[in-house]
Amino acid sequence: MRWPKGLTGLCYGGDYNPEQWPAEVWPADVELMRRARVNLVTVGVFAWSRLEPQPGRYDFDWLDRVLDLLYDGGIRVALATPTASPPPWFSLRHPDALPVTADGTRLSHGSRDTYCASAPAYRAAARGIAGALADRYRDHPALALWHVHNEYGTTCHCEHVAVAFRAWLRARYGDLDRLAEAWTGSFWSQHYSDWEQIRPPRATRYLGNPGHLLDFRRFVSDELLGAYVEQRDLLRAATPDVPVTTNHVLGGWVPVDHARWAAEVDLVAIDHYPAEAGPGAEEQTALAADLARSWARRGERLRRTARAGQVGATGDIGLAGQGGRGGAVEPAGVDGSGGPAWLLMESAPNLILTPGRMHAKEPGRMIRHSLAHVARGSRGAMFFQWRASRGGAEVFHSALVPHAGPDSRAFREAVSLGRVLDRLAEVDAGTVRAPVAIAWDAASRWALQSTVLPSGQLDYLAEVSAAHRALSRAGHTVDFVAEDDDLLGYALLVLPALYLLPDRYAARIHDYVAAGGHLLVSYFSGIADEHARVRTGGYPGALREVLGVRVEEFHPLDPATRLPLSDGTTGRLWAETVRLTGATPSVSYAGGLLDGEPALTRHDHGDGVAWYLSTRLDVDAYRDLLARVAEAAGAAPTCPTAPAGVEAVRRGTAERSWLFLLNHSAEAQTVPVCGVDLLTGDYADPVRLPAGGCAVLRETADADPGRRSDA
Ligand code: GAL
Repeated sequence: MRWPKGLTGLCYGGDYNPEQWPAEVWPADVELMRRARVNLVTVGVFAWSRLEPQPGRYDFDWLDRVLDLLYDGGIRVALATPTASPPPWFSLRHPDALPVTADGTRLSHGSRDTYCASAPAYRAAARGIAGALADRYRDHPALALWHVHNEYGTTCHCEHVAVAFRAWLRARYGDLDRLAEAWTGSFWSQHYSDWEQIRPPRATRYLGNPGHLLDFRRFVSDELLGAYVEQRDLLRAATPDVPVTTNHVLGGWVPVDHARWAAEVDLVAIDHYPAEAGPGAEEQTALAADLARSWARRGERLRRTARAGQVGATGDIGLAGQGGRGGAVEPAGVDGSGGPAWLLMESAPNLILTPGRMHAKEPGRMIRHSLAHVARGSRGAMFFQWRASRGGAEVFHSALVPHAGPDSRAFREAVSLGRVLDRLAEVDAGTVRAPVAIAWDAASRWALQSTVLPSGQLDYLAEVSAAHRALSRAGHTVDFVAEDDDLLGYALLVLPALYLLPDRYAARIHDYVAAGGHLLVSYFSGIADEHARVRTGGYPGALREVLGVRVEEFHPLDPATRLPLSDGTTGRLWAETVRLTGATPSVSYAGGLLDGEPALTRHDHGDGVAWYLSTRLDVDAYRDLLARVAEAAGAAPTCPTAPAGVEAVRRGTAERSWLFLLNHSAEAQTVPVCGVDLLTGDYADPVRLPAGGCAVLRETADADPGRRSDA
C-alpha cells in the first residue's frame, strides 16, 4: 500500500474549503486542480458547523457531491475531522468545554481552536463527528488519508484539566513525596498534602514553580495525544487500510512533543510558515524539514520495535535501536518506498500571515521552498489553501488560486509546480542520509522558556537553529535525534543547550563517544535532570566526565557585549569559567574577566572526541568550527563543490541517487557536477543555476562517475 492510499508520485494540493463557495464553483475548482495536476486535497478541516448544524443532525449531502466531483476528476482526499473548530451550538451548550487561560479567563467561541481537550463533552462530540464521517465515507474511493483535527495546540487550565493533570501526575509519581521531590516542593512551601490541592499552573503572584510548569507542558502534550489517538483508533477500525495523521505546527507555544507523537501517526505531517522573509526563511525551511524527517524515522523505528514486541507505550522504550557506525539506521518506508513517510501538509503559496505586515514570496520562491522539503524526504508539497477566501479571518492569506483568479502569476506558478512535482516522481523512492545529528528535546525547549534562568536571552530554538545553520552552511544535511534514537550511526553529534539530561541519556552520550563518536556540546547543556533540578558539583553535571571540564560559574552577557577570543573570533551572549579536568583548551577568552580561560575545549574520551563550547560564536565562526569538527569526525559534506548560497541535499537508494541543488542566492551559480536534470530532462555538466534556480540531478552510475559530486 502506498501512503496516502491510492496516490502515485508526489502529493500536491492543499486545504480545500468548498463550504466557503457556492456549488457552481466546485466543478471549476476541480477543473483548475486538474490543470495544476493537483492530486490530493484536505477537505472539511473547519467544516464542523456545516457538517453537523445541530447536535446529532448531520448534513453530508454537500460533502458527498464534493468528494464525488474530486474523485471523478482524479483527485484524492485527505478527509479531515473538523474537531479544531467546534460549532457555536456546541460551545453554548457546553460552556465548560471552552478553554480557560492561565489567568482564569474562559474564552468564547468566535475564532477557532476554542476547545478543552480534557472536557468530556468535547471528547464525546469529537468522537461523534469523527465516527459519523468514518461511517459515511469508509468506502468512498476518493479517501486516501484521514487528517485528524488541525494543529493540536490548545492549552487549557480549567477544572477538567485539573482532574486529568492529577491523574497524569499520579501515574508518573505514585505518591506526593516523590512529586514534592521532583518539584522541589520545599522551596516556597509547596508541599501538597492531597492530590486535590494540585492545579494546572494558573497565574501566580510571582515566579511559578519550574517543575510544575514543565510537567504541565508534558501533560498537555500527552492529553492532546490522547484526544488524537481516540479519533485515530475509531478511524482505523472503520478503514484499516487508510493511513491516519494530524498536521503539526511548530511554534514555541505549541504544547506538543512531536518526537513522542511520531509513533502514533502513520505519516508525519507538518505545516510550515517561515517567520522570516529574508534568507532566514530557507534556513527555517531546512530546519523544519529535517525535524519532520527525523520524527518520521523515529516513529517508524518505534512502531517496528513495538511490533517486534520489544516495547510498550509511546516513549517508554528501552535502548533498542543502536545500529553500527557508518550511517544512521534508516528503516525503509512502511509502504516499501523510500524512507519513513512525512509530508509538508501546509505552506503558503505567497503572502504569509505575519503580525504587522504580511510578506510576499518572490516569484519562484514557492517552488524552491517546496523542493527544499521534497529534497529532505517530504512526500510532496501541500498548501494552505487552494482558493483564497473572500471573507473570514484569513481573507488575505495567499492561495494557489488567488483573489485575482487563475489568470495570475500565482496560479501559473502553481501550474508550474504541478509539472515539476510530476517530473520528480521517481525521487520518492530515495532516502535522505545524514552523517551528523543534532539533539532535539521538547522538554529542554519548554524548560528554557522558564523565567527563572540566568539569561532571558537563552532561547532553545535559537541555539538549535544556530547549530543547524552552521552545519548546513558547512554543506551538511542534518538529522535530529531524541534520547532513545540510534546515535552510533552518526559521525558527529551536536548538543545545543540540551538543558535537561536524564541519567540514561547522559549514559548513552558517554557510550557514543567512548565507542568512537565525535561530540560537540554547547553551553547550558546537561545542567539539570529531567525535573529541571540542577546537577550539583559543577556544570554541566551530566557531561563533566565525557567533556573533561568542570564549569564553576556562568557569565550571562549583555546583548551588546562581544568577548574577543584567542583565535580572532568573538563570543557573545554567554561565557563561563571553565576548569579543565582532562580536556585541553583549544580557544581561550582574550581579555576581560576571563582572560586566558578556556572558551573551547577538546577531550579525547575512549575512542571518540568531545568538544565543549562555552560561548556563542558568530555565524561564520560557528560554521568554520563545525566544518572542522565534522571533517575530523569523518563526515563529508553532501556536495563539496557547491558554492555558498546553493543548498545541496541528496536522496538515494542502493542503486541511484538524486542531488537537489537549490540556488537561494541572487546570483547565477555553477556547480561542477553532472547528471540528468529531472526539471529539464537534459544532461547537465556542469550544472548552471540562474539566481533562485533549482536542479534535481539523477546521478546514475553511468553518468560519468568521475564527475559525481560524491565520488
Ligand atoms: C495554519 C493553519 C491553517 C491556516 C494557516 C495560515 O497554521 O493550519 O488553517 O490558518 O496556518 O497560515
